Amino acid sequence: MARLNGNSMIMWFLFAIMFGLGNFHASAELQRLTHAPKNDDSLSFLVLGDWGRKGDYNQSDVAYQMGYVGKKLNIDFVISTGDNFYDNGLTSDRDPNFEESFSKIYTAKSLQKPWYAVLGNHDYRGDAAAQLSPFLRQIDSRWLCLRSYIVDSELVEVFFIDTTPFIQDYFISPEHDYDWREVNNPPKAYITNLLKDLAMALRGSKAKWKIAVGHHAIRSIGHHGDTRELVSLLLPLLQANKVDFYINGHDHCLEHISDTASPMQFLISGAGSKAWRGDVQKRNREDVNFFYDGQGFMSVQLTQTDANIVFYDVNGKVLHRAMYSKELHSVRTKEQLLSII
Ligand SMILES: *[C@@H]1O[C@H](CO)[C@@H](O)[C@H](O)[C@H]1NC(C)=O
Repeated sequence: MARLNGNSMIMWFLFAIMFGLGNFHASAELQRLTHAPKNDDSLSFLVLGDWGRKGDYNQSDVAYQMGYVGKKLNIDFVISTGDNFYDNGLTSDRDPNFEESFSKIYTAKSLQKPWYAVLGNHDYRGDAAAQLSPFLRQIDSRWLCLRSYIVDSELVEVFFIDTTPFIQDYFISPEHDYDWREVNNPPKAYITNLLKDLAMALRGSKAKWKIAVGHHAIRSIGHHGDTRELVSLLLPLLQANKVDFYINGHDHCLEHISDTASPMQFLISGAGSKAWRGDVQKRNREDVNFFYDGQGFMSVQLTQTDANIVFYDVNGKVLHRAMYSKELHSVRTKEQLLSII
């Protein structure tokens, strides 16, 4: 064995720390929250993304319509796909923007349910940990944001995934300051562990429906388009584990795209306030079922056999519906599943 001099010993040691840590760090189970379905074994929720602007850019109008639809569907919870607070997340867990953009906006009785949220890139530009702080629940008990976690009912498991650390541009050519304190830079170990934990949880899932939620798109024809890192790292994992829907925000629009290699559907709800009118790449891609570049939100109703997905605009008008059934055939194909009304 070659003798190592002092310098190479130090180099070896640094190398081991930099690249070895991920292997020694045993993967942990993702935090799991339970949310029982209704007595009739159904469950419904709204999905909103990219919203916190103190009511501006029609945020309050979208909130009003969510209240109406939330009541009609008797929703169980709301999912936020991230970019919860503009422009730069929260400054701390005492930031008044929390109440100004959340508590004072989503005031309808039907929306007084748990809000399960992930962080978006704008949230990482502030104090990312502030949004995870239990102190926020003292101000508004609805709020529940963690980095990556699972909401589990017997009917559906929702896998919330912290996608911002996947995006290499945020590290390589940062235009903004990001709060990487708990992610580290580079984020290799963080991502490796997250994917390991997620794979373990997905493999063990016995729920009828599997839904994954992240801020960034896997597929999108909006401004940002497909996310290269998620297509290569996350998509195969979701496909292999028969995830039914991947839901995200980031592009300020509403979209429904079908995966070309599996029955999975991509649902985008990132239109909670400022929308990007006309900012679209290739509208006539054959996997695209629906694209809307204005403001709005989405609802999902689940039973043991059916999923009913509806997109609404800022006036509550229904823009698009999609229904999926688990009963048609044991082997699901896109053609058998998709019935767009
Ligand atoms: C608010 O919504 C209306 C109706 O869609 C739209 O015409 C208007 O441009 C929106 N305002 C803003 C600030 O986005």
